[in-house]
Amino acid sequence: MAAQIIDGKALASKIRAEIKTKVETLKERTGVTPGLAVVLVGNDPASCSYVTAKERALTEAGMNSIDIRLPAETSQEALLETIAQLNKDPKAHGILVQLPLPRGLDADAVIRAIAPEKDVDGFTPENVGRMVIGEECFLPCTPHGVIELLRHTGTETEGRHAVVIGRSNIVGKPVALLLARKAPGGNATVTLCHTGTRNLADFTRQADILVVASGRPNTVTGDIVKPGATVIDVGVNRVPCAGTKTGYRLCGDCDFDSVSQVAGHITPVPGGVGPMTIAMLLENTYLAAQRAAERGA
Ligand code: GUN
Repeated sequence: MAAQIIDGKALASKIRAEIKTKVETLKERTGVTPGLAVVLVGNDPASCSYVTAKERALTEAGMNSIDIRLPAETSQEALLETIAQLNKDPKAHGILVQLPLPRGLDADAVIRAIAPEKDVDGFTPENVGRMVIGEECFLPCTPHGVIELLRHTGTETEGRHAVVIGRSNIVGKPVALLLARKAPGGNATVTLCHTGTRNLADFTRQADILVVASGRPNTVTGDIVKPGATVIDVGVNRVPCAGTKTGYRLCGDCDFDSVSQVAGHITPVPGGVGPMTIAMLLENTYLAAQRAAERGA
């Protein structure tokens, strides 16, 4: 039987409409318009398109998008100075530096420079630490979006076996933590697989919930998926494709055709996790502005 497709675009659009209403209320009540500084260094085509989508979504939700474009040759010092200025700018409630950064720039140092109360990506050590110990924080957008997709589809996570493939700081590690949290969309038994895992299929075949964030097409094929499992494909890969306008097509980390024959639910690429990442970014930007308004900042 073919899997049900999880429509991330539709859920994200509903969440975005709710945020828009909350933004209007915040503006009326406090006079504060949430603003996000979006910093893009260089012109990597994928990063450019992600950043454009984020900026458009901010504007549509009634928020300010402070667009900062820097050349690929920008020095570490200049980038840190830009962050220091944004940390002081009361109109920038959030700061997002699009990753990856061009070669030669130290992303860890740049992330550390962002004020934790403006870190709407949830990437600073302060926010990561808070997430680990269950304190109030900004949850990272893609992992949070994955949890919301599971909740929305009514996928029970409590007591079930969730297998995550990939151990990046942006997706794999935080998604594993959120799935294990004692909270709605969590309380699962979690296995974190990565490039050092032997016999990946032994684990994926046990997964009631399979989150694939390996960054490699065809990491998961239908023959290694448990029948009826919920499969969340976080991958976005550009594969050359003659006959398309762009010369490429997007695919995830799963072989959609075979996996969708076995899984119970599956996210498409595009239209699954990607739109949810943006919706969660808007949510965090709204929260950052609301907290700043409460502090009188
Ligand atoms: N690059 C890929 N995903 C992300 C993300 O969620 N935030 C930022 N800043 N860069 C990314």
